[in-house]
Amino acid sequence: MADNILEVGAISTFIGQFHILEGVSVTVPQGSITVLLGRNGAGKTTTLKSIMGITPPRTGTVLFEGQPLVGKRPYTIAKLGIGYVPEHRAIFKALSVRENLEIAERSKGDLDRKVDFIFELFPDLKRLYTLPGGKLSGGQQQMLAIARALVPDNRLLLIDEPSEGLAPVIIEQLMHAIRVLAETTTVLLVEQNFRMASKLADRYVVIEEGCSVHTGDMTNLINDAALIQRYLGVA
Ligand SMILES: Nc1ncnc2c1ncn2[C@@H]1O[C@H](COP(=O)(O)OP(=O)(O)OP(=O)(O)O)[C@@H](O)[C@H]1O
Ligand SMILES: [Mg+2]
Repeated sequence: MADNILEVGAISTFIGQFHILEGVSVTVPQGSITVLLGRNGAGKTTTLKSIMGITPPRTGTVLFEGQPLVGKRPYTIAKLGIGYVPEHRAIFKALSVRENLEIAERSKGDLDRKVDFIFELFPDLKRLYTLPGGKLSGGQQQMLAIARALVPDNRLLLIDEPSEGLAPVIIEQLMHAIRVLAETTTVLLVEQNFRMASKLADRYVVIEEGCSVHTGDMTNLINDAALIQRYLGVA
């Protein structure tokens, strides 16, 4: 479908002998922010890793702009135009902010082209440009992790739990940044902070025990307290 940038169709993923995903389907409309919701251990991270080919699905389909991804290597998938911001912000602590961004280049000059946009989005990174990543606060490291995915021209960003462990004021900054970058890039987000998820996302998919069990428009979910309680255990 031309208007869905990503279509995950009934994927089944094993890690070792463990059957982790048993039927996850996710549709991401072009230009949207779609969020994966679900309790701890539901399979949200594994869904993103399955899209990226890090834990490749054994069955099912993943289509990016109509192109099948299953069977492709992670670096090949990334090169097609998908940025992945993993859980726990895996930045290089010994490298400077600048070096962390430089190694994210996919072709020469990517960072030069993007650095103004990145500094506008995250002014802290401009101030901290030459400092080692390990000296940054948790929130600043998260900004750097997202910024890294903005260096090459990605058309889809997968962002895993950006708010994890961060203070409300930092979460507000990240929400603003995600809103701005979503003006030009489609986003598939994992977010357990329902307040953040509900304010950002257009669409949601609930993952439960390795299966996608519910999907719809976020505006409908926000008004359905029973559904929120049932699937997410939050009031
Ligand atoms: N390397 C692994 N070996 C065995 N089991 C794993 C491995 N990685 C994940 N799992 C299991 O797969 C299930 C899904 O994990 P996943 O990390 O995808 O969940 P999640 O929804 O992202 O959870 P969280 O909200 O805690 O981040 C969990 O039961 C987890 O214990
Ligand atoms: Mg996770």
